[in-house]
Amino acid sequence: MKIKVNNILYEPKVSGSMRLLDYLRNELKLTGTKEGCGEGECGACTILLNGKPVNSCLILLGQCDEKEIITIEGLNEPELTKSFEEVGAVQCGFCTPGMMISSSAFLEENPSPTKEEVKTCISGNLCRCTGYKKIEEAIMLTADKKKLVK
Ligand code: FES
Ligand code: FES
Repeated sequence: MKIKVNNILYEPKVSGSMRLLDYLRNELKLTGTKEGCGEGECGACTILLNGKPVNSCLILLGQCDEKEIITIEGLNEPELTKSFEEVGAVQCGFCTPGMMISSSAFLEENPSPTKEEVKTCISGNLCRCTGYKKIEEAIMLTADKKKLVK
């Protein structure tokens, strides 16, 4: 089996029945991806699998053969990071990697979103402390910044 994680090629020697989340955190030590619920409800474990956001707690390593994975450590989104900082969209930070992965994929597909669309984009990511308003603001701000750059 071969998988690419953050542009590095790996040939995992562990069982294909290991959860992708455990492989990333325990084998590759990419601990930015968090485990919250462990059952597909909270979005803390979101990563990009071939460019699509998925819950890595629900995916087995064996399902990732020949696929490309991006975790928060490999996400190249400086504007998004800065916007989260600027508007204060991070408190404990537990949800932040998943939020950023989801919003990055969302903005890629929808560079000029409405506020309602932004709400839908992060509806699979739970935040226990910041409240969603600032996170939504950060995503809208990123969209605005990206438009200025173009
Ligand atoms: S830990 Fe995967 S969705 Fe909650
Ligand atoms: S910032 Fe703490 S859970 Fe979202």
